[in-house]
Amino acid sequence: MKSPLRRTARSADAAPYEVRVFGDPVLRKVADEVTDIDGKVVKLVDDMLETMYAEPGIGLAAPQVGVQRRLFVYDVGDGPETIVNPIIAESRGEWVYEEGCLSVPGLFWEIVRPKEIHLTGSDLDGNEVSIEADELLARLFQHELDHLEGVLLLDHLDDETRKAALKTLRERYADPTGSPSRTSTGGNGLSLP
Ligand code: NI
Repeated sequence: MKSPLRRTARSADAAPYEVRVFGDPVLRKVADEVTDIDGKVVKLVDDMLETMYAEPGIGLAAPQVGVQRRLFVYDVGDGPETIVNPIIAESRGEWVYEEGCLSVPGLFWEIVRPKEIHLTGSDLDGNEVSIEADELLARLFQHELDHLEGVLLLDHLDDETRKAALKTLRERYADPTGSPSRTSTGGNGLSLP
């Protein structure tokens, strides 16, 4: 998930991964369970965190760096965390929040999702985790879980908004400079904490 800081310039430091963006088929695949947390997974997580901080983002799912595994990293200000094989066990309420995605850079939309969720999974040591999350954290978990299912923000938009977004994305990626624009499709940028 995109950082509320909304910086557009990439960090000068080369991140270990380039975040995959809209149009990359890996973003549309359902990721596989992590069956063994070995050294490769630990290295993947390290590199994902570095990539996430470089963007900057507050969450990053493995498919966004081209790895079809069910895990994501995040940091909402309390330090880096990893959730492996996450499941939303329960969700409640409804909350509208302006949401952006590192894989759909520069675009933000107000999206309705459950306000509170109960997330289960494991941490990087293989210990079970069970987290009651609401608002931003619940939003982030749902957003990253979507990535593990091949779902993007665009899938949450109504037909008209989605059409406009796809047009913007097509124009952008047809742009030979490839420079992300700050084109807004309706977000007012005021709803972030
Ligand atoms: Ni995302």
